[in-house]
Amino acid sequence: MSNTFATFEFTDEQHSHALPILKGTLGPSAIDVRNMYSNQDIMTYDPGFRSTASCQSGITYIDGEKGVLLYRGYPIEELAERYSFTQIAHLLTSGELPDSQQLAVFEKELRRYNLLHDQVLSFYKGFRRDAHPMAVMVGVVGALSAFYQDAQDYNSPDDQHRAAIRLIAKMPAIAAASYTYSIGRPIRHPDNSLNFASNFLQMMFGRPSEPYHVDPLLAKAMDQILTLHADHEQNASTSTVRMAASSGANPFACIAAGIATLWGPAHGGANEAVLNMLENIGAPENIPAAIARAKDKKDPFRLMGFGHRVYRNYDPRSALIRETTKQVLAHLGMENDPLMATALELERIALSDEYFISKKLYPNVDFYSGILLRAMGFPSRMFTAVFAVARTVGWVSHWLELKQEAHGIDRPRQLYTGPTLRHVDKR
Ligand code: CMC
Repeated sequence: MSNTFATFEFTDEQHSHALPILKGTLGPSAIDVRNMYSNQDIMTYDPGFRSTASCQSGITYIDGEKGVLLYRGYPIEELAERYSFTQIAHLLTSGELPDSQQLAVFEKELRRYNLLHDQVLSFYKGFRRDAHPMAVMVGVVGALSAFYQDAQDYNSPDDQHRAAIRLIAKMPAIAAASYTYSIGRPIRHPDNSLNFASNFLQMMFGRPSEPYHVDPLLAKAMDQILTLHADHEQNASTSTVRMAASSGANPFACIAAGIATLWGPAHGGANEAVLNMLENIGAPENIPAAIARAKDKKDPFRLMGFGHRVYRNYDPRSALIRETTKQVLAHLGMENDPLMATALELERIALSDEYFISKKLYPNVDFYSGILLRAMGFPSRMFTAVFAVARTVGWVSHWLELKQEAHGIDRPRQLYTGPTLRHVDKR
């Protein structure tokens, strides 16, 4: 596989060992350290995986320096402009954009499997009405592991495919129900006359007492939000899904683990945190104080929606969402939205501040998405749930990819720093 080698000198051991270098199709190469421990009795140490490729993957590529994001080789800008979320879901899960016939089959499957089992609906009543939607989603999606006993041979391509479709298809209903339950409104079923994004909107906002009219611009914005959040290579939640899946765990349980990880404010919970931050800042004149706090090492406050482990440039998703946010605000007569004014000014000041310039901290996908979702009617507690609906496509794609591999269970090692051998007092 490799004819290039890096040589490491372990000076204290007085010996050297050559390691193969693996080349991908794009991006940096990786030193293959798989046999390092067995050959050299030494491990690599990389908490946070800053220099570690945890797997090989052919789904999504990010060039963080240039601000490039590719799904299966296609730039995100081209996909977001010309293709629907279901076409993107087909691309990510199968590797190719569908032709019209393949798309018809794929969308038919999504419609067929989008209903929630009646017993799944009864779970909702066990939750407090004030529970966070992500807490409900972790529980409900995990509980799906107890269903579909007839299709649980997850080494068979048929059962893998059906689990993937079920997860993508049901997630909007699961997320919407976690919201409608919280406000005491009857849970709405999917309407198969609508496309994926419109259907999600009607399950979220439709009332049983009146017809729900889908606003085409809001449906288009929803579709774009789903596309932009669909996958992002080995982020924390996707890595969690892959690790859970490496043990052969049930796919619904693996995705529930992904939802749990996504919930954190350093990951998918950031869009909710951005909105809270903008509300706390209140007005553009308070921005300098917020910037000063973000720069103060003694203060745990960070500018939410800024910075990224991989991007050292403008997150291309953020640029697209910022423009859509402007369009939707104008469409809804909210051009003077104070949160948008604060966000734009915060971005302007931060991007001309030496601290943010030198650390290459730019707005990420979450910086504007909260403002957009709020304008569309989503309460802030639902923002991460929307992210989960979209990212299910990515998680499922990685789960399908992992099922084709044979590297066994993921099992990191550790650098032990606890007590050395000692014995209990025998007295
Ligand atoms: N505000 C102020 N300073 C920051 C920020 C920020 N948002 N982000 C990073 N820094 C500083 C950090 O203090 C550190 O400074 P120093 O080198 O002096 O110690 C330097 O920049 C590098 O930061 P890091 O913590 O090593 O970067 P990371 O790769 O571990 O963290 C991050 C990435 C996204 C967790 C972080 O930038 C952050 O906490 N941002 C705010 C939360 C956020 O917006 N998260 C959404 C990420 S995008 C969506 C997703 O992937 O889910």
